[in-house]
Amino acid sequence: MSMIVRRLSRAATAGLVAAAALTAAAHSAEAADTLGSAAAGQGRYFGTAVAASHLGESDYAATLDREFSSVTPENEMKWDATEPSRGSFTFTSADRIVDHAQSQGMDVRGHTLVWHSQLPSWVSPLGAQDLRTAMNAHINGLMGHYKGEIHSWDVVNEAFQDGGSGARRSSPFQDKLGDGFIEEAFRTARAADPAAKLCYNDYNTDGVNAKSNAVYDMVKDFKSRGVPIDCVGFQSHFNSNSPVPSDYRHNLQRFADLGVDVQITELDIEGSGSAQAADYTKVVEACLAVSRCTGMTVWGVTDKYSWRSGGTPLLFDGDYNEKPAYGAVLSALGGSGGPGDPGDPGDPGDGASCTATYTRTADWSSGYNGQVTITAGAEPISSWTATVTLPAQQSVSSLWNGTPTWSGNVMTVRPSWNGPLAAGASTSFGFTAAKNGSDAAPTVGTCTAS
Ligand code: G3I
Repeated sequence: MSMIVRRLSRAATAGLVAAAALTAAAHSAEAADTLGSAAAGQGRYFGTAVAASHLGESDYAATLDREFSSVTPENEMKWDATEPSRGSFTFTSADRIVDHAQSQGMDVRGHTLVWHSQLPSWVSPLGAQDLRTAMNAHINGLMGHYKGEIHSWDVVNEAFQDGGSGARRSSPFQDKLGDGFIEEAFRTARAADPAAKLCYNDYNTDGVNAKSNAVYDMVKDFKSRGVPIDCVGFQSHFNSNSPVPSDYRHNLQRFADLGVDVQITELDIEGSGSAQAADYTKVVEACLAVSRCTGMTVWGVTDKYSWRSGGTPLLFDGDYNEKPAYGAVLSALGGSGGPGDPGDPGDPGDGASCTATYTRTADWSSGYNGQVTITAGAEPISSWTATVTLPAQQSVSSLWNGTPTWSGNVMTVRPSWNGPLAAGASTSFGFTAAKNGSDAAPTVGTCTAS
């Protein structure tokens, strides 16, 4: 029997799904006593910005892994970090975050492809045609590297001016390519990774104002002309000068009504105590009230690493203690208030679970396609792990909608983007196998949920 190549390239884990029938075991784990699991119960993700440089800090990683179901690299996917000199891409730090997220079954938001800030110095001097070529090459290079692994990309970030004009912001892209650069970036992005949701992301657009009206008009125009846009990100950086707007929910809803998803992408609220907690509650309630608000991301794990650390704007203090805002968010998400609370259904030993079922969805003389469907039990889950044991002769050449690791002929699969599931909800991953003389079916083993 020949040696089998088990490991797949980063790009080869991407793809589509097909249908399912053979059952495996269930396993219990914690339920809605974390931000991620509580949000999953509402059909949403709850994410955080992450810096690769902090992943080695055990309390940071433990808090991240326990609480969040999605990550956004805070700086590591930006243009200056990924293409510091033209055509020379560097993914080391971003890969570290994506690998960590995948090992924990978290989704990844891509931030950001085209932005006037954190641009390497070689970009600005380019002439119009060269800049257009460079912009498209950057999108293709970054999205190609992570094809199939990013749930949503911030394709264009902060392209509109503050103030009352509703005008586009001056930038190399705007000044040399005109308004059309945004449309071009989205069209290029769609072709580069058709599975990724494509978002426009901005700040001070959280309520109805001249800037959000201008973004609204652009999205409406894109939808009417078939320009590929799937979502709008509302950064939601709040403080006393820029409080949570009273028409926040209404504003999210009017964008959703254009036919796009909305996401809260960089949430932080300066303050402390019950006032900060009350503001966080408003934000979570607004998202939950809008069915197309698919998830929320806070802009960091702990106050001590926040870009506004002096304003203590996050959910965990510098020692990773839960702040009142944490409890408020968990409660607004329908969570149980934390481990150990009387009657907390999320304490260890409670019954979150999943099942895995296998079916062969295509068959030919030398190979077949298999599909494994993961179904959450009676409680929501934030992630899952399933094992598939292949007959020794067989080899897997591609796998989609999951991230595999191998031990001999046992494939352990975690989510690529599809970790959180509401109670009773399903997702699936698929794979192509070569028979190499054995037509036997693989065996699906334990499904574990967390
Ligand atoms: O890593 C270097 C370090 O080596 C050096 O010693 C130090 C000296 O200044 O700089 C460090 O890099 C800093 C980097 O954050 C990492 O900490 C940069 O100077 C600093 O400019 C950078 O700030 C980031 C900022 O974007 C840049 O515009 C923040 O971390 C990041 O939170 C912030 O995020 C933005 C979003 O991308 C877009 N929306 C607004 C949001 C907040 O400004």
